[in-house]
Amino acid sequence: MATRFMNESDDNRVRYIFAVCYPERPPHPPTWFQVHPTIVATEDVRDTVVGYTSLIIDPSEKLVHYRDIAVMPEYRGQNFGMHLFQRRQLAGMDLGITSHVGATWAENKRMIRLFENNGFHLCQRVPGYYPDGKEGLIFVNHGGGLIHA
Ligand SMILES: CC(C)(COP(=O)(O)OP(=O)(O)OC[C@H]1O[C@@H](n2cnc3c(N)ncnc32)[C@H](O)[C@@H]1OP(=O)(O)O)[C@@H](O)C(=O)NCCC(=O)NCCS
Repeated sequence: MATRFMNESDDNRVRYIFAVCYPERPPHPPTWFQVHPTIVATEDVRDTVVGYTSLIIDPSEKLVHYRDIAVMPEYRGQNFGMHLFQRRQLAGMDLGITSHVGATWAENKRMIRLFENNGFHLCQRVPGYYPDGKEGLIFVNHGGGLIHA
């Protein structure tokens, strides 16, 4: 398993992973993955991209917003999510930003484990946060530091 920043030739694959993993969401605009730093995870055998994650740097440059994190269903439970999560955390820290924020929903136990295992804590519940009306659980880490790195 390896992680790296995506390049232009990954765009179609990453959009496909998005469509599989977030079937309820409309596609991102054409320039989305060029604008937001995105990290991909590859499997070792054929070097196939099996997951990705993006971050959004707040214009104040004091906050990193975590956006999509997705692993193809057949590769879940093998730590790809953990690797992507931690690589994203490091990418924010490399920019000198130690306040990181992300969201998920109550049923998404794997995602909650990823936040908890990486030093985040639940700071707020926001009713109707998601387009389908689901409550958002907002997780923050103001130290930016990795627990398991
Ligand atoms: C969330 C997601 C990225 C996790 O990817 P993953 O590669 O399966 O993650 P990992 O293998 O690193 O496992 C993460 C945690 O989930 C746990 N987990 C793995 N399989 C699990 C299962 N079947 N049920 C519950 N928890 C499970 C792992 O044990 C790990 O926690 P731990 O370290 O405390 O043991 C992936 O499930 C996904 O793409 N989901 C769809 C998109 C999504 O919901 N994205 C997040 C939106 S906020």
